[in-house]
Amino acid sequence: MLFQKKKDVIGIDIGSSSVKMVHLKEAKGGYQLSGLGLAMLPAEAIVDNAIMDSSSIVDVVKDLVESQKLKTKNVATSISGHSVIIRKIQLPIMTEEEMEASIQWEAEQYIPFEISEVNLDFQILGPDADDASLMNVILVAAKKDFVSDYVALFKECGLNPQVMDIDCFAVENVYDVNYGANEDEIVALIDMGASSMNVNVLRGGMSVFTRDIQVGGSAYNEELQKRLGLNNEDAEIVKLGGEAPDVTAEMVAEVMDDATESLTQEVQRSIDFFSATSSDEKVQKVFITGGVSKVSAVKSSLENRLGVEVQVIDPWRQITFNEKDFDIEYLQAMGPVYTVAAGLAMRRMGDR
Ligand SMILES: Nc1ncnc2c1ncn2[C@@H]1O[C@H](COP(=O)(O)OP(=O)(O)OP(=O)(O)O)[C@@H](O)[C@H]1O
Ligand SMILES: [Mg+2]
Repeated sequence: MLFQKKKDVIGIDIGSSSVKMVHLKEAKGGYQLSGLGLAMLPAEAIVDNAIMDSSSIVDVVKDLVESQKLKTKNVATSISGHSVIIRKIQLPIMTEEEMEASIQWEAEQYIPFEISEVNLDFQILGPDADDASLMNVILVAAKKDFVSDYVALFKECGLNPQVMDIDCFAVENVYDVNYGANEDEIVALIDMGASSMNVNVLRGGMSVFTRDIQVGGSAYNEELQKRLGLNNEDAEIVKLGGEAPDVTAEMVAEVMDDATESLTQEVQRSIDFFSATSSDEKVQKVFITGGVSKVSAVKSSLENRLGVEVQVIDPWRQITFNEKDFDIEYLQAMGPVYTVAAGLAMRRMGDR
């Protein structure tokens, strides 16, 4: 049927610390929030982005989805990490169809895995600014066995995984919808999660550089445990502002600040690397998200290091919701944690 509304999906982000779920309805010219949920995962359920303990994740995802009483079983989810390669490449100008036909062959020289072992996807960005005979393309390759573990997990939950996205592109989606891209601006989007940080630099709204940093919020816990002799539970409690025996707020603050600095130093390295490899183009503004962006010192530390404005993404900025159904304070406080899931929920069936 022509002009039929595209079918909605449930956005489910399986992070290393928790599963986040968002459902959005299409409303006049935008989206309305219609479902939301978060559930913690056991510590070793996901390691290095890979599914280690499938059955406990299945239980968590099933409970989350069932609690929402949604009509659809269709899911958009995302992956990231070592098994996913994102490259910006240049190719002679060709059509989408020609690209489709030659992608296997073209990809071979850019992908460090056997081509038969990966799922490939691409997005044509457009002609190159310096050479009009070339076009810029984003090439994405994900290891098949890695992807199929995620597909199998959702099927085991009785769900239909329909869209397989990449974490940093889901964040980009949220940025597009809520902030809109400006033709000539260069912005960096940084998702700071529990075990990794994903950097995505956009020029004029298009991704030109991505990088995964394999360290995140659990670095706080490790430092708190090591330096203050806390167990993991107490480390998480004091990290979130609570109290534990034999440690003062000052002791915690000092360890937290040091950990913040080493995390933001890693981000700075990536941003510097982008500048050094792209004819000294400078990032003009930085948007941060993920649980770690809730640590207030992260924003100021990044601003000091990078010398540009840093803003925490509000994934609900342009999304309407019914105040009877959702607690506005919870939404504001937890926004950064839901960004990836919100970006996934904005996808529609048939999207790539
Ligand atoms: N208020 C807060 N203060 C400090 N840390 C916080 C706060 N809220 C969340 N975090 C930390 O943020 C991390 C969780 O963030 P998030 O949900 O974005 O990660 P994830 O998606 O599970 O992990 P990843 O994306 O790395 O797989 C945890 O390390 C958690 O302790
Ligand atoms: Mg995450």
